Amino acid sequence: MEEQAAGQADELDSRVQALLQAMTLDEKLSLLAGRSLFKTRGLARLGLKPMKLSDGPRGVGYHSALRRATAFPTGIALGASWNPELAREFGEALALEARAVGAQVILGPAVNICRTPLNGRTFEYFTEDPELNSRLAVEAIRGIQSTGVAACVKHYAANNQETHRMKNSSRVSERALREIYLPVFEAAVREADVWSVMAAYNAVNGVPACESKTLLDEILRREYGFTGFVVSDWFAARRTRSGASCLEAGLNLEMPGRGSRYRHSRLKREYEAGAFTEVELDAGLRPLLRVWLRTSPDAGHPPGKRNTPGHQQLARRMAEQGITLLKNDGGVLPLDRQRIRRLAVLGQRAAKRNCRPLYGGSAGVWSPYEITPLEGLRQLVGRDCEIVSDPRGADAAVVVVGLGHRVGGDFEGRDRADLELPAEQTALIRETLAQNANTIVVLVSGSPLAMPWVDEIPAIVMAWYPGMEGGRAIADVLFGEVNPGGKLPVTFPRTLADSPAHRDPRRFPGDEDTVHYEEDIFVGYRHFDREGIEPLFPFGHGLSYTCFEYSTLAPESGEWRGQGSLQLSFRLSNAGERDGSEVVQLYVGACAPSLPRPPRELKAFRRVFLRAGESTTVSFELPVRALAYYCPQARCWQVDDGDYEIALAASSRDIRLVQRVSYTA
Ligand code: BGC
Repeated sequence: MEEQAAGQADELDSRVQALLQAMTLDEKLSLLAGRSLFKTRGLARLGLKPMKLSDGPRGVGYHSALRRATAFPTGIALGASWNPELAREFGEALALEARAVGAQVILGPAVNICRTPLNGRTFEYFTEDPELNSRLAVEAIRGIQSTGVAACVKHYAANNQETHRMKNSSRVSERALREIYLPVFEAAVREADVWSVMAAYNAVNGVPACESKTLLDEILRREYGFTGFVVSDWFAARRTRSGASCLEAGLNLEMPGRGSRYRHSRLKREYEAGAFTEVELDAGLRPLLRVWLRTSPDAGHPPGKRNTPGHQQLARRMAEQGITLLKNDGGVLPLDRQRIRRLAVLGQRAAKRNCRPLYGGSAGVWSPYEITPLEGLRQLVGRDCEIVSDPRGADAAVVVVGLGHRVGGDFEGRDRADLELPAEQTALIRETLAQNANTIVVLVSGSPLAMPWVDEIPAIVMAWYPGMEGGRAIADVLFGEVNPGGKLPVTFPRTLADSPAHRDPRRFPGDEDTVHYEEDIFVGYRHFDREGIEPLFPFGHGLSYTCFEYSTLAPESGEWRGQGSLQLSFRLSNAGERDGSEVVQLYVGACAPSLPRPPRELKAFRRVFLRAGESTTVSFELPVRALAYYCPQARCWQVDDGDYEIALAASSRDIRLVQRVSYTA
């Protein structure tokens, strides 16, 4: 296998070399920028066809392909599934849809860390945690690239807000970069061999990402071993100094259109003035051409397919697995089909469609159809139950609310102003409750929300943006046809001020175009745990219609030495009466760290399905790296000798078993 892969790589290199030898200087200069919004130029003379790229992370973007495509749930819903295998299936389906519209590169996955709950793009991203992020991204990329389509992991790096995104600079310590913001890119390169990376709009510590030698050359290529191409985010290169500085840093393609810094006429002038050599130009083109050729429609990859029943079923399964049951007092849910004769369904999002061109921004997908929550419920109950809009006298009331893909909601290019739902939605929730005690709130939304009514409402379901099959998945969960197993991939704070990025306006939105990441590594639950702040709902939280028991941890304590890994296992039982899935979370905390560290950090997890009454042994094998931190003085990862607590948990605040180990290098 390895020999075969090496042989193919050599063959690819020779084809690239032959192309470069045959090209004139002008031809070479013309390839560094695109031609239109989502296409590069080609070189007909040498048989090189234009390369087509397509958004985006949750389905083929209508604006990039002008075709309808399967709208899968958005990134945060996949985050809530905690299911890397599902991410892989999704990646493969997404790439086949991309190939079906002639695209060679899919602009995703989108993996920026959810640093502030107000980020307008939170709905596109997976999580606030680097480990969950990496596991999902790696499998999504593997899935995409298994079809011969290139994944383009984005946005590199420290791109965590939309406010002033074209001109701001993230001021972030090396430790926070290494521990929080870069691990997913490291994993994408080292584990999934990602073929392209998108350089972000922002600058990092004063240097625009598109011309950052540190980020692109030193870290990505030299340290991680990246061999693919770097593309600028759309128009991001405009803020850089020159074509030569982008080339030197390692930017291989500027998008869209004819480019700015890589515009042919401008590059030529720089070349003639001696700003870079042809050898350097060749070095910039090589990684681009390699991916271009290996993903080309003539490269013999499986044909694409779009909007197939298989993809629709996958979209539905993803929606089901992402839905997160936040609260269920008194067993209001699941609704009983035998008993519910009249169901009130109301709320601004009950009959709204979310899968439309540019809804949310570049992640918008125009689907061939979309089952709204109201339609899903209608289809499920059929003639057995009357669906009404008046909660009075109904057996239960479902209020579907959420932000929607409006500007200032879950929308690219603009952050939210606060955590609140629109006032009329909050009012509707309270009015409904006053008229019907069995009120269930379903949130169709992509980011954390404040819930001033949380104590009054008995049942709350977070459905995220569940894609074109979402209405069916929501109905199935409400009526117990599907047992929810999603868990929060982000902390829901009670108030914005509790959030680490909102301690001071310097941190968000920043001052004078500098965003000060002063919370450092204490992002998300790392901050809430350290400060002992009670969140509205903690990271990793999610209920089920059954209950899981954790027992018989082995070993309960022990010694861990050297570079070997640590094995541990425990018994997980489904002690309830329904089949269901539990996401088991493993957190590690150092008992006496040599520098400030979070009390607990997620280091492994597993989504386990168990039939009612069934038990299984869950085993983990932890590498020493699970104990490591990035030492700012030594500028490398280090592991301290000493005691560590390993917690097996149902959420970051629901710890079931603890093992204490003593580590000696
Ligand atoms: C977004 C990218 C997207 C690109 C192309 C940019 O505005 O930041 O995520 O892939 O547009 O649509």
